[in-house]
Amino acid sequence: MKRKLRSGMSASLLAVAACIALHSPHSLAARDAQTILKETCQGCHTPEADNALSRISHQRKTPEGWLMSIARMQTMHGLQISDDDRRTLVKYLADTQGLAPSETDGVRYALERRLNTVEHFDDQTSQMCGRCHSGARVALQRRPAQEWERLVNFHLGQWPSLEYQALSRDRDWFDMARKEMVPLLAKRYPLDNPAWKKWQSAAPKADALVGDWSFSGHLPGKGELAGVMTVSADGSDTFKVSVKGRYADGSPFNGDGSAILYTGYEWRGNVTIDGVTMRQVFAAQGNAMQGRMFEAEHDERGLDFVAARQGSNRLLAVQPGYLKAGSETEVTLIGSGLTGKPNFGKGVEVVEVVEQSPERIKVKLKAAANAQPGLRAVTVGTLKGPSLSVYSKIDAVKVVPEFSVARIGEGGGSTPKVQGRFDAEAWGKGADGKPYRIGVFPAQWKVEAFDDRAKEDEDVKFAGTMQADTGVFTPGDAGPNPARKMSTNNAGNLKVIAAVDDAGKSLTGEGHMIVTVQRWNNPPIP
Ligand code: HEC
Ligand code: HEC
Repeated sequence: MKRKLRSGMSASLLAVAACIALHSPHSLAARDAQTILKETCQGCHTPEADNALSRISHQRKTPEGWLMSIARMQTMHGLQISDDDRRTLVKYLADTQGLAPSETDGVRYALERRLNTVEHFDDQTSQMCGRCHSGARVALQRRPAQEWERLVNFHLGQWPSLEYQALSRDRDWFDMARKEMVPLLAKRYPLDNPAWKKWQSAAPKADALVGDWSFSGHLPGKGELAGVMTVSADGSDTFKVSVKGRYADGSPFNGDGSAILYTGYEWRGNVTIDGVTMRQVFAAQGNAMQGRMFEAEHDERGLDFVAARQGSNRLLAVQPGYLKAGSETEVTLIGSGLTGKPNFGKGVEVVEVVEQSPERIKVKLKAAANAQPGLRAVTVGTLKGPSLSVYSKIDAVKVVPEFSVARIGEGGGSTPKVQGRFDAEAWGKGADGKPYRIGVFPAQWKVEAFDDRAKEDEDVKFAGTMQADTGVFTPGDAGPNPARKMSTNNAGNLKVIAAVDDAGKSLTGEGHMIVTVQRWNNPPIP
């Protein structure tokens, strides 16, 4: 059973190949999963009662999680498996030993590849487990105590030097992992959970997703967009997808591709939008889809996506989501089944309905000069959800993300640059004195040295270029730079500054961006 890894294929290449595989449907000639388990896994994994296999049958995880485990079998243990067989297995294992939607709540950012997320786990979990990879990688698995313990043993066996590293050499890591973390993890993330049983029996059939979906999105550096995604069946749990939309500035956003559904709700799409391959990682449940859509080669370039199936009744978004007291503006409501006159709350008047369909209502709004600053619940008939911010002046500007990592790249190497992409969020002060989010505003952008060290090393000059009107930062080339002190690379430590104009008054916000080296190891779950 044990064979050598195909020569010339590095672990990271394999991970990339594996990731593409996850988003594309398996071929028709696919072998049955049980046969594959028997023929390719059973050589190392012992058969148990009830058709089970040691280790494999005692864990539940996401499609990405299963993919990573099998990819590890390939890179570390010499498993040989065809791409088609691996696809079949990932699909089967994610369907039969997956996570219920509620079990992924709060940690979907890792699947959606929001790599600038600052995680909030308890100190012990962060220090013991969240220092090499995300805490989400842990939170996206379910196992009994014995399997958590084996995982700990595997970590120390595979990477014995972990005990000498920071946050290990100051403690008895192995002892604490076994005696403290294992019981904690088994309690927090148990294999048996009523939510999973319930989901398995209640999950809707995949064809419930076929139809037209009205969507709304936001792309940092570009703004809001909306449109229709058409989903048609193309085999069992696989779909053809076409996307037709528009950015707020009127420019089109079109493309098509395919998608596959894991675990009854884990939607993974692969669409080419205006020539660029993008991945969709959505939770698709009932009449709602939500998640993120990002470029395959640049996961930092992506948009928040929310959609409602046409025929259902849902109000998704108000674009733009703010209005200045004493002013008039056009806003668009996006959703499905929108009928009746929209209401925007106290002090906001609908001057004119410019356009109305079940998916879109465009209205001209006027806010009274004395309208109270704060959030208004927006309603259309009985539908509610989004809010409109009314403001009289901007109180503060926040750079989002507040802390981020960009990466140098190219420069003759094969690793692309990882850009910084920012939004300037305006905040107001409500009548109660509490801050509230007004929304994303156009801004003028620049970077500055974060500290004296960065100033002395001229990081601003070398680390990359900020596009002043979009907030898109493109890092410098990878590799040593002879123009820098000691020919160091183009890394840098920068402040990101956004200036927003509010009736002639400029307000600034500040974020922090580290420009660092390439990410060599880039698995599906960070
Ligand atoms: C050549 C031997 C070998 C083959 C073949 C093999 N495995 Fe493994 N597997 C191992 C070893 C060794 C471990 C324990 C160390 C580890 O987790 O990497 C393991 C552990 C696992 C685990 C537990 C991982 C964890 O995080 O606890 C899973 C799941 C798994 N294998 C799945 C599979 C599947 C699915 C196949 C067939 C496609 C397979 N393995 C084939 C050797 C193998
Ligand atoms: C020294 C760094 C390090 C520490 C500390 C660490 N991990 Fe990991 N962990 C790794 C690496 C590397 C992998 C990736 C293996 C692979 O390529 O699949 C991994 C993989 C995993 C996986 C996925 C395994 C699978 O196949 O499903 C889980 C779950 C996990 N770690 C949990 C933990 C937990 C829980 C802790 C704390 C008790 C922890 N890790 C601490 C480095 C670390």
